[in-house]
Amino acid sequence: MLVVEHPLARARLTTMRDARTDSAAFRAALHELTVMLIYEAMRDAPVRIERIHTPVARTDGYRLANPPLLVPVLRAGLGMADQAHKLIPDAQMGFVGLARDEETLQPTPYMESLPEDLSDRPVLVLDPMLATGGSMVHTIRLLANRGATDVTAVVALAAPEGIQLLEDSGLPVRVVTASVDERLNDSGYIVPGLGDAGDRQYGSV
Ligand code: PRP
Ligand code: URA
Repeated sequence: MLVVEHPLARARLTTMRDARTDSAAFRAALHELTVMLIYEAMRDAPVRIERIHTPVARTDGYRLANPPLLVPVLRAGLGMADQAHKLIPDAQMGFVGLARDEETLQPTPYMESLPEDLSDRPVLVLDPMLATGGSMVHTIRLLANRGATDVTAVVALAAPEGIQLLEDSGLPVRVVTASVDERLNDSGYIVPGLGDAGDRQYGSV
């Protein structure tokens, strides 16, 4: 697991946590935090060398050897998708739609659009929140069933309970986050957290 504790990441996360932050400012802070999280998540990505000409000389250039599949988890993960795509323009994007049942806290799937074969493809799952971990485990099972073995969960915030569930699942996943918070409350919300990441971006429906 990688916790990105850069001061600029902490400042964006603070804006997101603050209950006074309106939707537009929340989305802007999530966009900026996503750039930092993706940047760190891709730090060790393999590159291929390509000889190029600058206006002055020949030199080695570098390209991603195997651009990842990006998988935002709807709705809240949509707020990370464009920024991740801007950083990795060669990436393909798949989509998973899940809504957490407020009573049982179990994810209810409503959408799945993923390539059939994910063997030999790195995958970045984008979701601001890892709470009980149910949504992330469901998503990574879909990916693992298609052969994915190199999966990174990029989340703004994680709860210890969600990290534990991912570990116990035995699924192949690494977590990159800006914070591991204290705990979940009785309603399954991360404490101190930031509230409902979907509602704070898009309003409650
Ligand atoms: C939120 C969040 C995660 C999930 C995390 O989505 O974006 O997907 O809850 O909770 P978990 O770890 O306990 O599964 P939600 O289901 O509220 O839907 P939304 O993105 O449409 O608001
Ligand atoms: N989903 C959210 O959006 N926030 C939480 O705190 C937990 C799950």
